Amino acid sequence: MSTTTTTATRSAARVVDAVKVYGAGDTAVRALDGVSVTFPAGRFTAIMGPSGSGKSTLMHCAAGLDTLTSGAAWIGDTELGGLDDRRLTLLRRDRVGFVFQAFNLVPTLTVAENITLPLDLAGGGGGSDAEWIDALIDVVGLRDRLRHRPAELSGGQQQRVAVARAFAGRPDVVFADEPTGNLDSRSGEEVLGLLGRTVRQTGRTVVMVTHDPVAAAHADEVVFLADGRLVDRMEAPTADAVLDRMKAFEVPS
Ligand SMILES: Nc1ncnc2c1ncn2[C@@H]1O[C@H](COP(=O)(O)OP(=O)(O)O)[C@@H](O)[C@H]1O
Ligand SMILES: [Mg+2]
Repeated sequence: MSTTTTTATRSAARVVDAVKVYGAGDTAVRALDGVSVTFPAGRFTAIMGPSGSGKSTLMHCAAGLDTLTSGAAWIGDTELGGLDDRRLTLLRRDRVGFVFQAFNLVPTLTVAENITLPLDLAGGGGGSDAEWIDALIDVVGLRDRLRHRPAELSGGQQQRVAVARAFAGRPDVVFADEPTGNLDSRSGEEVLGLLGRTVRQTGRTVVMVTHDPVAAAHADEVVFLADGRLVDRMEAPTADAVLDRMKAFEVPS
């Protein structure tokens, strides 16, 4: 273990009293209704909840992709509400990684080029970056695919490239929104295992949105959303325990 456990747990990202209202008047939707949650550094946290419970909204506001109606969001010690558009863009580029359901790779670039794209955009590429990328390539198991193009890879392999790309710039936190939504269960398991391994082997931080109890069970901790509110947290989740907890939130029909 390379990470220290002697200091108090740092927060990689957090929101306090987060409210997000879409629209106005009769059609207003309160997607987040006063959520306060901390995503600790060095951990894999899953945001779980039924469709429409506000998971993606919470992730987007925590990651600086969208702004809160009220309340506050931090990445590390940086409060996002205090940043102008340019600073917010730089923060997203340099300190946050993203994995989405659609892999979003650049089809004309090779695997190696896709992985290092964030660094190239940031004008980085020093010696320590090269070592980090080299280690990442082994973690994601793509050493023998580096010169392939995305179209020559399976969906699971493409998502592994996207995971490596998300970690390439050593971000404070990687946010993943339903990263296994487009994958068969076996490829999904591979990608989830990979996210967990990357956190445990490199001490980095992942926050993953999912509605799938099996996916959530890969995390160190699960936070549960229902109707835009944080309703529970669970350490060391199992798929069965997550499923049971979800059933408790379901409105009987
Ligand atoms: N851009 C938007 N405009 C209006 N309503 C939205 C928008 N995005 C999400 N919502 C609404 O906010 C609520 C939460 O959505 P979302 O965060 O996407 O939920 P989840 O990811 O848990 O499925 C839903 O009722 C959804 O319809
Ligand atoms: Mg969503």
